[in-house]
Amino acid sequence: MADSGEKIVTWRGTRAAAVQDRLQRPLQDLRISVMDRCNFRCPYCMPEDKYHKDFEFLKSSERLSFEEIQRLVQVFAGLGVRKLRITGGEPLLRPNLPDLIGDLSRVAGIEDIALTTNGILLAQHAAALKAAGLARVTVSLDSLDDAVFVAMSGGRGNRERVLEGIREAISAGLTPLKINTVVIRGVNDHTVPDLVAHFRGTGVIVRFIEYMDVGTINHWRLADTVPSRELLQRISARWPLQPVGSNYRGEVASRYAFADGQGEVGFISSVTEPFCGSCTRARLSSDGQLFTCLFAAHGLDLKGPLRAGASDAQLAELVRGTWQRREDRYSELRAANGPDTDKVEMYYIGG
Ligand code: GTP
Ligand code: 5AD
Ligand code: SF4
Ligand code: SF4
Repeated sequence: MADSGEKIVTWRGTRAAAVQDRLQRPLQDLRISVMDRCNFRCPYCMPEDKYHKDFEFLKSSERLSFEEIQRLVQVFAGLGVRKLRITGGEPLLRPNLPDLIGDLSRVAGIEDIALTTNGILLAQHAAALKAAGLARVTVSLDSLDDAVFVAMSGGRGNRERVLEGIREAISAGLTPLKINTVVIRGVNDHTVPDLVAHFRGTGVIVRFIEYMDVGTINHWRLADTVPSRELLQRISARWPLQPVGSNYRGEVASRYAFADGQGEVGFISSVTEPFCGSCTRARLSSDGQLFTCLFAAHGLDLKGPLRAGASDAQLAELVRGTWQRREDRYSELRAANGPDTDKVEMYYIGG
C-alpha cells in the first residue's frame, strides 16, 4: 500500500494525513469516470452533431480495468482520499459496475462511495449497486416537462423511466438521493417550480447548478447562466426558505430548508460564487488521466506508468507531486478574467 508518511489518529483508527496543494487544500475526494460514452446527448455536454455514430470513443482496452482502478484508489486513499464519486459519461453503461463498487468499498480508508447518473438505467441496477456497497446516488434531471427534458437530453431522455429509477434507488436505500438540475436561461428555468413542487416532502434533495463554461463545445455565455441568487428569490417567493449550514467543509451546494419542514434544496453556484478555496477534489478519467480541476486543459497520465509496472510508492509520488504543485482556481479566475478556451470536455471527466 502507498504510504504518505505522516499519520493522523482519529476515532476510526490511524489513517494517512492528506497531502496538501499550494493553497493548503487537502486531497480528500476522488471522482472517477468509468465510461466516456453516454446514452444521452445533452446539447450542453455532448451535442449530437459532434458525438455522432462515427465518433471514436475510447476502446475498452484503453479504459482502466477494475483492478487498475482499485489499485489507484488504494494509492489515493494512502494520500488522504476518503470520498469517491463514480461518474461517466454514463457510468451505468460500464458492464458489471457493481463488481467495481464492491472492490472499492473494501479499500481501507474509503468512507463514502456515491454515483452520479442520468438515471435512465437506474431502476434495473439500483439493488445490485446497493448490495455491492454503494451508499447513495445523484440523478441528473433537468426538467419534469417532457418536451424540455427530451430537448435537454438530445432526444434521449424519458421522464417516466428516470422517475422509476429514482423510486427504485430510494427503495434500495441509496439515500439521501439528490437530483442535479443544470439551469439554463430561457431553456428550463421556467420549469424549476415544477421540480421543487414534485420533490418537496419526499426526502429527495434537488440541487440547482449554475450553467458553466465547462469544455469547449457548449458556446457558453454568461447571460445563459441564471444566478442562484435569482433562483433562490423566485423559489422562496412561493415556498419560504431558510439557509442551513453545510454538511461538511467544502460542500459545493449551499443548502436551504423549506420553512414548513418539507425538506431542502441546494444551489451550486460555481459561476457567481466560486468555491475554489475549499476544493479538495481530484478527477480521474476513464483512461487514467488525473485532473486537478474540472476546467483543466491537461491531465497527468497514470495509466502509462501503471501498465509499465510502476510500484504503489512510485504512483503515490506522481500523485503527491502533482497535488503539491496544484494551484487551480479556475472559477475564481473566470469571475475576474472571463472564460478560458483550452479545457477538457465534461463528459470525459464526469463533472
Ligand atoms: P455530495 O455533496 O457528496 O453529495 O456531492 P457533490 O455535490 O460534491 O457531487 P456532485 O457530483 O453531485 O456535484 C454536483 C455538481 O456540482 C457537479 O456535477 C458539477 O457540476 C458541480 N461541481 C462539483 N464539483 C465541482 C468543482 O470542483 N468545481 C466546479 N466548478 N463545479 C463542481
Ligand atoms: N454546467 C453545469 N453543469 C453541467 N453538467 C454537465 N454540463 C454542465 C455545465 N455546462 C452537469 C450534468 C450532471 C453533472 C455531472 O454535471 O447535468 O448533472
Ligand atoms: Fe450524458 Fe451527463 Fe453529458 Fe448529459 S450531461 S450527455 S447525461 S454525461
Ligand atoms: Fe475546484 Fe477547479 Fe472547480 Fe475551482 S473550478 S472548485 S479548483 S474544480
